[in-house]
Amino acid sequence: MEGMERIGILTSGGDCPGMNTAVRAAVFAARTKKITLYGIQQGYQGLYDGNWEELTLDRVDSIHSRGGTILRTARFAPFGDPERRQHAIDRCIENCKGKIDGLIVMGGDGSFRGARDLTMNGLPCVCLPGTIDNDISCTDYTIGYDTALNTVMSMADTIADTARSHDRCMVLEVMGNAAGDLTLYGGLAAGATAVMIMEHGGLEFPKEGEMTPEEAARFEQSLMARIRMAKAAGKKYYMIFVAEGITGKKDKHGRTRYPGGVERLAKAIQTQTGIETRADVLAYVQRGGLPTARDRVMATQMGDHAVNLLAQGISNRVVVIHKDAITDYDIYQALKMSKTISREDYELAWRVSL
Ligand code: F6P
Repeated sequence: MEGMERIGILTSGGDCPGMNTAVRAAVFAARTKKITLYGIQQGYQGLYDGNWEELTLDRVDSIHSRGGTILRTARFAPFGDPERRQHAIDRCIENCKGKIDGLIVMGGDGSFRGARDLTMNGLPCVCLPGTIDNDISCTDYTIGYDTALNTVMSMADTIADTARSHDRCMVLEVMGNAAGDLTLYGGLAAGATAVMIMEHGGLEFPKEGEMTPEEAARFEQSLMARIRMAKAAGKKYYMIFVAEGITGKKDKHGRTRYPGGVERLAKAIQTQTGIETRADVLAYVQRGGLPTARDRVMATQMGDHAVNLLAQGISNRVVVIHKDAITDYDIYQALKMSKTISREDYELAWRVSL
């Protein structure tokens, strides 16, 4: 594997700000090592179709500050389908033979599983954690999370202006897939009245499927109690942050944990507390925009590190940031780790929120 001359890079799954920054850094790192870097289009689909182009300095000029991904991205269905998976892997491997000696995969856990299997089948891969969700267990932060967090905070600040003017309660659904990071820390930063995430709160949500009517009632009650407490303390407007894992995300059978989502929750709040309430799904605006300085710096460090690993003949690693240092982690181990979210910070968000 040592002496790599050609490396591919792809972005996979949901895009995020900072992906372009990492691609640009990889181009510079590869150039220093006299490696040619190929940009694979539309994630694993491009590997499957053999759709790639050489990434020259010219091609990546100034992209560090642009959101999205110039490589485009996709969720590649055959890798998620046990019946088509091996065929898809074989075809990707076949396409790369004699053309690409190693691959950098930027995305989330699902994309890492593809990289693990490609490595096992003979194409050395290194992964970069790129997702706004911050839901990758082995790294303290993912590329894109800081930008999305700032977007959530600034949208919430904007919405709070109108909430204050009307003495209203606003229910905001925040992205994050099954993870509550954007909801918790967005809520903490924006002074939420309540932060509802799946990981904490003692509500024992089922991980899949709908809550039972009793569970939904318990969920609503815990929120109403909080809103009433805030009202009694003199609060005149209320900002409720709810993770999309509770109100928005559908499981593979098309079921949402809390059927009816934030619209139903807003109605319940209005009926049960008498406070005029509106619902707002923050949605895809959270995934775009100019990457923050923090994301740009981290994406540059990570993109550089990924090329260095492959150049040294090291693969099957996820590049991570841990205690402010860039390092790397075995993909197999990374995929076995489970994600946690600070209980202390969750309690703090509630303590500072009345
Ligand atoms: O993983 C990023 C993310 O934006 C999640 O927060 C969200 O659940 C999902 O992607 C949305 O996916 P799609 O772009 O397929 O609708």
